[in-house]
Amino acid sequence: MVNTFSIKQTPKLYFGPGTIRSLPSLARTFGTNLLFVTGKKSFTTTTIWQETSSTLQKDGFSTELAHIENEPSPEDINSFVSRYTEKTIDVVIGIGGGSVIDAGKAISAMLEEQQPVELFLEGVGTQSPRGHKIPYIAIPTTSGTGSEATSNAVITRTGPNGFKKSLRHDNYVPDIAVVDPELTLSCPPAITTACGMDCYTQLVEAYLSTNGNPYTDALALDGIQRVSTALPAVIANPEDIEARSAMSYGTYLSGIVLANAGLGTIHGFASTIGGYCAIPHGVVCGTLMAETNKATLQKLRYSHHNEIALDKYTRLGRAVNRQEGLTDEEYQDAFIQNLAEFTDQCGIDRLGNYGLDKGNLETIAARTGNKYNPVQFSKDELCTILKNRL
Ligand SMILES: [Fe+2]
Repeated sequence: MVNTFSIKQTPKLYFGPGTIRSLPSLARTFGTNLLFVTGKKSFTTTTIWQETSSTLQKDGFSTELAHIENEPSPEDINSFVSRYTEKTIDVVIGIGGGSVIDAGKAISAMLEEQQPVELFLEGVGTQSPRGHKIPYIAIPTTSGTGSEATSNAVITRTGPNGFKKSLRHDNYVPDIAVVDPELTLSCPPAITTACGMDCYTQLVEAYLSTNGNPYTDALALDGIQRVSTALPAVIANPEDIEARSAMSYGTYLSGIVLANAGLGTIHGFASTIGGYCAIPHGVVCGTLMAETNKATLQKLRYSHHNEIALDKYTRLGRAVNRQEGLTDEEYQDAFIQNLAEFTDQCGIDRLGNYGLDKGNLETIAARTGNKYNPVQFSKDELCTILKNRL
């Protein structure tokens, strides 16, 4: 039997190498006054960007350019909104990594809301957003957060009272997502690895989520099969466009499944640790992926109450280990083993490399939620997971 579920709207998707060239005609459906939100300067120095912006100029578009340096803070969003609030903007176009896509999403919303963004952040603000926004086109240049398919923008304030919280409304799903894997070819290796681990974590956590459904399970497992092969391939050869395409597609799927099934303990940690110190989101996910899944599997085996989740671990093992004839437990262990080896091969940093030490663990664990993880960890258990990755 298929239980009741619903699926949120998704963007109108243009997927494939070269789809960036359709941007002028897509933007024109909203108007000719464009606000681009981009990262520091890596993408704006590429040939693709130069071609695109000269086409836009020739076609009579007026363009504004907002640069986001890091993960967007409330102050970043508020200052861009006040800079562009008097100008006519027909469409906001976020073109960059996950932070840029999130920043563009928040700017497009706050240009209509006209209030400080922190008022609307989950767990921080006191107001619910109305869901009005300027049309938004999301164009990812990394394969990571899946923000091009989601209804939330993550806003970060770092420091002892820092946070990493979402601005969220179903209407904030981008109107259009242009997912062109060629744009990810210039993504540096460290970012490719960290973003890839974020995407992989999102797919696995959504697949194991207690809030999943057959629709999200199917998309997540398909994404996991693609990403588990493609991620090592793009790390070995960044020019491998087939593997880059699989990563871009897997990332888009990860956005859909996380928006509909939710995530687990690793993203609970990421939300807390990301506000606590300046550590890239993908590194937190990557460094905790094997350790948290190992602890989850162990607890599932002890509890004997969640055969569905154990069965999913077996399928995850089969997805990464094509060997025939193993027992269920052997497949489950193979998945954990594969994660641990992959973490080592990629040289993913430990948490201690970012200044965290034993003294921080209790506070982080106390603020961390297990979300939809198939088992709920106690504060002590969360501390043990963290300690093993210090
Ligand atoms: Fe994530």
